Amino acid sequence: MSLAKDIKSILVNEQQIKEICERLGKEITNDYKSKERPIMIGLLKGCVPFLSDLARHIDLPIEIEYMDVSSYHGGISSSGDVKIRKDMNTSVAGRDILIAEDIVDTGRTLDTIVKLLKHRGAKSVEIVTLLDKPAGRVIPFEPKYVGVTIPKEFVVGYGLDYEEIYRNLPYVGILKPEIYTK
Ligand code: PRP
Ligand code: MN
Ligand code: MG
Repeated sequence: MSLAKDIKSILVNEQQIKEICERLGKEITNDYKSKERPIMIGLLKGCVPFLSDLARHIDLPIEIEYMDVSSYHGGISSSGDVKIRKDMNTSVAGRDILIAEDIVDTGRTLDTIVKLLKHRGAKSVEIVTLLDKPAGRVIPFEPKYVGVTIPKEFVVGYGLDYEEIYRNLPYVGILKPEIYTK
């Protein structure tokens, strides 16, 4: 069973992902060079491929942490209920935080997590996301670093899932609607 057969079209290909990671890595390196040991926090599970590729283009001493956060609980639309499945063990008080995400859609996940980290005393909190889907917003939210802005389509691959499948596709693609309507 091949994964690619369920993809209607490729939205962001492997070469484009590579260029995005290089560009954002340089920008972040430049913006954070005078900050003291920023913490990059990846939001599991979707962040994994992007964080891993992006971090290798950040030429600074950073710490990397993860929080396991979910709002979708399967399906193709956000539940509106953001759950922290696993928290970090590190204190963020007084620290510069860069959250790494695969996608900002309704904005609910990041709105919740940014508020939480600020409440815990983070000095600064910024977002780097591979994909931004502004047409999906329910809560106003503007990520600082964006790989690419995408239209309102349900996408999978490179970390993004549909019912926990397709995360290991090396590119971002639009899922054939018959997969989630059947
Ligand atoms: C997805 C995605 C983002 C979030 C974005 O995660 O990885 O974290 O939803 O959507 P929002 O802007 O509407 O909140 P999901 O909840 O599916 O968990 P996962 O990363 O484990 O797949
Ligand atoms: Mn996620
Ligand atoms: Mg998901």
